[in-house]
Amino acid sequence: MKAIVQYKYGPPDVLELLEADKPEVGHDDVLVRVEAVSVNPYDWHMMRGKPYLVRSQAGLLKPKAKIQGADMAGRIEEVGKNVTQFRAGDEVFGEVKQSFAEYVCVPADRIALKPTNLSFEQAAAVPLAGLTALQGIRDKGRTERGHKVLINGASGGVGTFAVQIAKSFGAVVTAVCSTANLEMVRSIGADHVIDYATEDFTTNGRRYDVIFDLVGTQSLRSYRGALTTNGVYVMCGAIGMGDWIGPLTGILKVLLSSVFRSQTMTPMLAKVEQADLVVLKELVEAGEITPVIDRTYPLSELSEAMRYLEEGHAKGKVVVTVPR
Ligand SMILES: NC(=O)c1ccc[n+]([C@@H]2O[C@H](COP(=O)([O-])OP(=O)(O)OC[C@H]3O[C@@H](n4cnc5c(N)ncnc54)[C@H](OP(=O)(O)O)[C@@H]3O)[C@@H](O)[C@H]2O)c1
Repeated sequence: MKAIVQYKYGPPDVLELLEADKPEVGHDDVLVRVEAVSVNPYDWHMMRGKPYLVRSQAGLLKPKAKIQGADMAGRIEEVGKNVTQFRAGDEVFGEVKQSFAEYVCVPADRIALKPTNLSFEQAAAVPLAGLTALQGIRDKGRTERGHKVLINGASGGVGTFAVQIAKSFGAVVTAVCSTANLEMVRSIGADHVIDYATEDFTTNGRRYDVIFDLVGTQSLRSYRGALTTNGVYVMCGAIGMGDWIGPLTGILKVLLSSVFRSQTMTPMLAKVEQADLVVLKELVEAGEITPVIDRTYPLSELSEAMRYLEEGHAKGKVVVTVPR
């Protein structure tokens, strides 16, 4: 099969389209013919091996796994003998390992049936970013109807899902993004928009029940000042987190700053939960969320997709198709 193979850490040039062995299906796995994948900041951390902390798991000097990729949508070709939930021919989506290829072998509990109203390209945009937004807004943020929710970094992959999910929970949503994306975030449901180039949401006097932060550019003290008395700050992403231990110091600071206070400051790490993939499928099918896709590339140009994503200004998701 064709796959994007990476023998060393580095810039997008390390990603090569090569022949690789088609994976063999395990007893608890399914073999999926991948139709589309999407790229995430997670993928370029694995590509670059940065922050260096990721190498403790991914391989010290070079990546242990030669094929990367998390998000995928495709059609099941074969099921393992213990798998009863799916059968060959099912159209599925999920967050897996090694999806940058024509075929991927995945544990059955990391996938769900694809939303019936989405193409493979659209479905591949959903898993990692959608799960992060869902778990951040629902579980960490504890968002309720009528809550004032601010999403910092609203125009990117996770942010565009977070805006729509918070709206579906009945929140009043404020989206923070650049001038170029104000209309787009309004069009997906944001009640209020803030252009970060001209306004600082931490000093404009407004307060929020939930701040879902995908950017991390302000001090914790500033975020605290923009929260209501019992508000929740969710630290999900951070720009310029450093080459060595990345967000670890930020996470520690966030945890410590919650002690003895009525406000909650919490970091988050999204998990792959099949039940949450099903929630996302239902939200999509009910018309509550629609993936926002910025650009689509073929598999042979996955390095270009990664180069674009690394610039840090994607408008929604960047998708890669896997032509037959
Ligand atoms: N904790 C977890 O489990 C988890 C899971 C997934 C992702 N993440 C992290 O979450 C972050 C966002 O991921 P993503 O997939 O959404 O990335 P993305 O698609 O690359 O989006 C990044 C967005 O950040 C916006 N941005 C840049 N500078 C900004 C600023 N000063 N103020 C407000 N917005 C700004 C950009 O919007 P403009 O073009 O409008 O500037 C862009 O749309 C990343 O750091 C990622 O690593 C964490």
